[in-house]
Amino acid sequence: MTVSTKQEWSTHTGFILAAIGSAVGLGNVWKFAYVAGEGGGGAFILIYLASVFLVVVPVLVAELMVGRHGHKDPVDAARAVRKEAGAGPVWETIGWLGIIAPFIILSFYCVVAGWTLDYLVMTASGQFRGLDSAGVSAVFGSVLQDPGRLIMWQTVVLAITAVIVMGGIQNGIERAVTFLMPPLFLILIALVIYGVSLGGFGEAVAFMFVPDFSQVDGEVLVRALGQAFFSLSVGAGMMLAYASYLPNSVSIPRAALTIGVADTAVAIVAGLAIFPIVFSYGLSPAEGPELVFVSLPNAFANLPFGTVFGCAFFLLLAFAAVTSSISMLEPPVSFVLQRSRLNRRQAVVLVSAMAWVFGCLALLSFNLLADVRPLGLLPGFEDKSIFDSMDHLTSNLMMPISGILLTLFTGWVINAKIRNGEFGGAGLGLRVWLFLARFVAPAAIFVILVNGFILPVFHG
Ligand code: PHE
Repeated sequence: MTVSTKQEWSTHTGFILAAIGSAVGLGNVWKFAYVAGEGGGGAFILIYLASVFLVVVPVLVAELMVGRHGHKDPVDAARAVRKEAGAGPVWETIGWLGIIAPFIILSFYCVVAGWTLDYLVMTASGQFRGLDSAGVSAVFGSVLQDPGRLIMWQTVVLAITAVIVMGGIQNGIERAVTFLMPPLFLILIALVIYGVSLGGFGEAVAFMFVPDFSQVDGEVLVRALGQAFFSLSVGAGMMLAYASYLPNSVSIPRAALTIGVADTAVAIVAGLAIFPIVFSYGLSPAEGPELVFVSLPNAFANLPFGTVFGCAFFLLLAFAAVTSSISMLEPPVSFVLQRSRLNRRQAVVLVSAMAWVFGCLALLSFNLLADVRPLGLLPGFEDKSIFDSMDHLTSNLMMPISGILLTLFTGWVINAKIRNGEFGGAGLGLRVWLFLARFVAPAAIFVILVNGFILPVFHG
């Protein structure tokens, strides 16, 4: 038996919490709010929900099946399962995407997670007191203009992530999520209650739930689908890695549904907390990545006990980010462990150091390298900075492509014995999942990708 597979989750809840911990992160609060805001609200959210339950949850089932059955790091897991199925090496792409995508995500994710810590300190020291929206916006601008500051906070987050992953599955990851997840939910609920008390609540609900399809184009579809993959951490190796430590007694479809429902609930609840603030402070929901970092400090600056509340919020956002970042570090680390003589600690240091370098490039794209368009020659990337390219490439391309491969592989290629064994039964649930995995999910992803990336080339 190999190094990384000796460990197992100590309890079912430990695994579920870790998987939800991975899923629930900046994606649910920071990214969901701004992509939904830019995508026009209700219509985006409707497409998002369809993407989650018709496409991404079925892919999640597939990913957990391959991960548990392969029982190794993402690359070897994909290789083992495709060999057992007698299928060609093309399916190993799933494994490679499963270590490259989380590595790229880790690099830019720690930058944003760093902002939450920076904001924690600023809120605690009362720097937002008395500022209006323009003032808070200016603060965010000055944070982005300061590479040293961005690097410092990115380094802090990466170091915390590394220390936890060094502890391994039970003593590191499982312990961290058990401690960090529950308070996050409480604070979110408290924020919604605050949101309800604001004048903008009705407007926010209308914005989120009354769809206006006039704003929906190919790009919005791509973003809604990509957001569903990103938010559930699906198609990025993390579920392959986590499921390799999963005991056979856990029901995969039940776990997948639980993760999907929990993650979606947090995103919607976060929206119900953020959009009322956005509207009642006269901000635009289409603000972009700074949405949360401008709207929330605004609210906290004017709210009774705003400092306490604001600190709690940014602290917990940082917690949520860390329970996700550890899950991005684990797949490449398990890959290195399997293929080198390094021990876990050394493997963690190696991968984190590499992610640090990529993270520096990402954060420089807010200042010194703002004009660099690294993938500018590719369709869809013409206007994307380094940071945006890393995000677009992973969420909107790599993860969906991995989704197509995973569903086709588990739906059509592997034999029924493996499939039914991992799914746990052959009843109605299996038939529904098979239909989604064989037809609906791959076709939907394919159409959306063609629409978003290929067709625009021909339309100029
Ligand atoms: N799902 C995480 C979030 O919402 C991000 C993530 C993506 C984590 C891919 C792991 C792998 O913040």
